[in-house]
Amino acid sequence: MSTLLALEDVDAFYGSAHILHKLSLSIGEGDRLALIGRNGVGKTTVVNTVLGLASLRGGTVNVGNRMVARPRPYIAPKAGVAVVPQGRRIVANLSVEENLLLGAATRRKGPWNLPAVYELFPILQERAYTPGVALSGGQQQMLAIGRALMANPSLILLDEPTEGLAPVIVDQLAVVFNKVAAQGISLLLIEQNMSLVMRVAQRYCAMAKGSIVAQGDVDAASLETLHQHVMV
Ligand SMILES: Nc1ncnc2c1ncn2[C@@H]1O[C@H](COP(=O)(O)OP(=O)(O)OP(=O)(O)O)[C@@H](O)[C@H]1O
Ligand SMILES: [Mg+2]
Repeated sequence: MSTLLALEDVDAFYGSAHILHKLSLSIGEGDRLALIGRNGVGKTTVVNTVLGLASLRGGTVNVGNRMVARPRPYIAPKAGVAVVPQGRRIVANLSVEENLLLGAATRRKGPWNLPAVYELFPILQERAYTPGVALSGGQQQMLAIGRALMANPSLILLDEPTEGLAPVIVDQLAVVFNKVAAQGISLLLIEQNMSLVMRVAQRYCAMAKGSIVAQGDVDAASLETLHQHVMV
């Protein structure tokens, strides 16, 4: 199995604040890994480190089979690792379609283009020329996922994609994530919703205070353990 993203013994900082402590995790082809943990443990910082938005001061980050000595926001997407950021980050003065086209800036070849994304999310085609931020929360999340798919990634990092969404929308997104995974895209799912984790992930890593403190398979037997790592 080839590795798509690997962090090894990573120390990461915001300024002088030391957030990630010798954190290691690795995601391969076909993997569906959930990264869980309470608020503030550093889940988003894992994504930010891969993008160079938090500073990497120890350990290594590999994207594909290449070590990225100085991560930058454009490096991972070009190498096949797209991000659906926490809070979605829809660009305010661009239409739905323009937001989608931003994802294609990597110019990676593959099956994903506007028609394919519109087939997956027909509502985005209906609203193609409205401002992205005029969509409902659930639709904006679909837009953020569509934008990531436009990069034709091998792996998508999803940072709390169901935060604040109604259960019926969460159910729809669970189906979408499984569909996307079935098409051969690996997933790193950062989530606090364990019912979604159970439906989508095969494996989990649990974080506390900037490190991985537990990992294993996601199955009926691990449900209680999963809940313990997200309960306040
Ligand atoms: N830009 C920043 N500058 C300084 N500290 C930050 C910054 N962003 C986050 N932090 C701090 O880093 C720690 C980890 O934050 P992070 O956002 O990675 O947590 P998280 O696990 O994603 O939490 P949540 O579940 O609330 O999204 C927190 O203590 C947070 O206050
Ligand atoms: Mg976060």
